[in-house]
Amino acid sequence: MSSQAVCWLDGRIVPAAEATVSVFDHGLLYGDGVFEGVRYYRRTAFRLEEHLERLALSARAIALALPYTMEQLADAVRETIAASTAEDGYLRVVITRGGGAMGLDPRGCARPTVFIIALQLQLADAAKRRDGLRAIIAATRRLPPDGLDPRIKSLNYLNHVLARIEASHAGADEAILLNAAGRVAEGTADNVFVVRKGRILTPPAVEGALEGVTRGVVFELAHAAGIEAVEAPLAPYDLYTAEECFLTGTAMELAPVAEIDGRRMTVCPGPVYRRLERNFRALVQGEMG
Ligand SMILES: Cc1ncc(COP(=O)(O)O)c(C=O)c1O
Repeated sequence: MSSQAVCWLDGRIVPAAEATVSVFDHGLLYGDGVFEGVRYYRRTAFRLEEHLERLALSARAIALALPYTMEQLADAVRETIAASTAEDGYLRVVITRGGGAMGLDPRGCARPTVFIIALQLQLADAAKRRDGLRAIIAATRRLPPDGLDPRIKSLNYLNHVLARIEASHAGADEAILLNAAGRVAEGTADNVFVVRKGRILTPPAVEGALEGVTRGVVFELAHAAGIEAVEAPLAPYDLYTAEECFLTGTAMELAPVAEIDGRRMTVCPGPVYRRLERNFRALVQGEMG
């Protein structure tokens, strides 16, 4: 537990050590719940509306009735940021099915548990961000959409955790998961982009990608910069032979990939990545006043 963490739990700010949930919570017992990761810069949550909208859709998709309105959740996020000592940070907004009787049936859960954690999070150190990450393609596959739709940001991350363990064992920084058909889905907590002939390509949701908020921002930035950006199915071949590759995510922000399974990108960080990263920083500065 981070000593710097600030927590909001079911309606109020509580000391991190007292922010606990029941052992009967179905979020813990079954991964039955949804969440969002949100960054805040200069004490303002970045793209909060988009995150809360995705949270609400994830909750609807798993038939979980939110106990708060969107406005109340936005207020809770703002209250958590205000209680934090840091100007910039990362927020985890979690909604579980709540505590209930043992057994999968959610009808025994009276009320969802809602909590928000604010903390500092840096997924890659400065040198990695400058020189590029080492990635592997994991043997662990992304769950198929007919098992769990990738657009649902649920608490079920075990296959991503397994892929992450593979990356650690291989001495790599990140793992890229393929879907059941062997095409690229996404990273363990980020979306994957490649640059080919000046165009940027990323897999669509049907291939097993979460529709990332940062991914959406990169599309906006690419269009504004006149760079063609498209969703396209990608094979491992497309990763191995890309001119550039980079990852996007709320926790990761934008990070260049230097090599995948020992194949070096043509250039890292490449010109397209550097331009988008610079424009991303400018956008964050602009939107955060
Ligand atoms: C599985 C997965 N894919 C992609 C992303 C990137 O999404 P976003 O940019 O909205 O953080 C995340 C992070 O939330 C994730 O957990």
